[in-house]
Amino acid sequence: MKGIILAGGSGTRLYPLTRAVSKQILPCYDKPMIYYPLSVLMLAEIRDVLIISTPRDLPLFKELLNDGSWLGMRFEYAAQDEPRGLADAFIIGERFLGQDSVCLTLGDNIFFGRAFSPILKSAVRKVESGQGGVIFGYYVKDPSSYGVVEFSPEWKVLSIEEKPAHPKSHYAAPGLYFYGNDVVEIAKNITPSVRGEIEITAVNNAYLATGRLSVELLGRGMAWLDTGTYDGLLDASNFIATIQKREGMFVSCVEEIAYLNKWITQDNLLALASSYKTEYGDYLRQVAEGF
Ligand code: DAU
Repeated sequence: MKGIILAGGSGTRLYPLTRAVSKQILPCYDKPMIYYPLSVLMLAEIRDVLIISTPRDLPLFKELLNDGSWLGMRFEYAAQDEPRGLADAFIIGERFLGQDSVCLTLGDNIFFGRAFSPILKSAVRKVESGQGGVIFGYYVKDPSSYGVVEFSPEWKVLSIEEKPAHPKSHYAAPGLYFYGNDVVEIAKNITPSVRGEIEITAVNNAYLATGRLSVELLGRGMAWLDTGTYDGLLDASNFIATIQKREGMFVSCVEEIAYLNKWITQDNLLALASSYKTEYGDYLRQVAEGF
């Protein structure tokens, strides 16, 4: 399975913060926002990742993340010249994907919680055994600005609607999607919605229509944070800071995950640690030395 991080878009909802720089490069406490979705792919043990952003912002991501070898990974980059919708990621990524299945993460979605890795690995297994698509459902107070999943009393998925005025449930679909390679053809056949985008919800409905969509519920112990507003951004930073200071363990530390995945050696990690003259560097040293 390969990974795609979609990190483009116009970012107008955060103006003037994002007038000159991509939202997904903004800090979320001590690290750039894109580290969080990247860490999700790494926890799913995905090593080949395509990063899609605007022609303006792509050089920044390349400077930040390079070719991925510092994490024992392989990164490729592709431009999206206009925000045509989330499903455009699969059309842009067609050559990169080849015959592989895919996990798409949105560059501004942050997840944190117990037992997340097994959930991710199980989604990979399901999709790789040909089961179609796996997405997630997360209970939120107000789901109206998300894709919303409707369930029957037996938890069968009945519908998925994009930003419904009258949501049929409280379950939002977060920006984390696993699909077989057929998603490329499905994406190509989607007609743009009224907002002019090829919607990920249309992709999910295509899988649902053929009985090939699983929606896994993320329980109460899991945090899914929104960074789409000034307050969402500040709350996410405060949340990460609170956890890290209390536990002394970092959230979405990509160097740590690479080391624990055995994609980089202890020497690699120590070299990274000494290149950061910060608390972050001290933390990497601690990880390398086994705390
Ligand atoms: O966050 C989860 C939600 O993401 C889902 O529940 C919705 O079903 C899904 O449509 C999406 O909703 P949003 O309207 O919040 O997506 P937004 O337009 O904000 O785009 C999400 C991220 O993807 C954002 O960081 C910008 C980036 N993006 C978006 C589009 C439309 C791109 O890179 N290219 C695009 O063409």
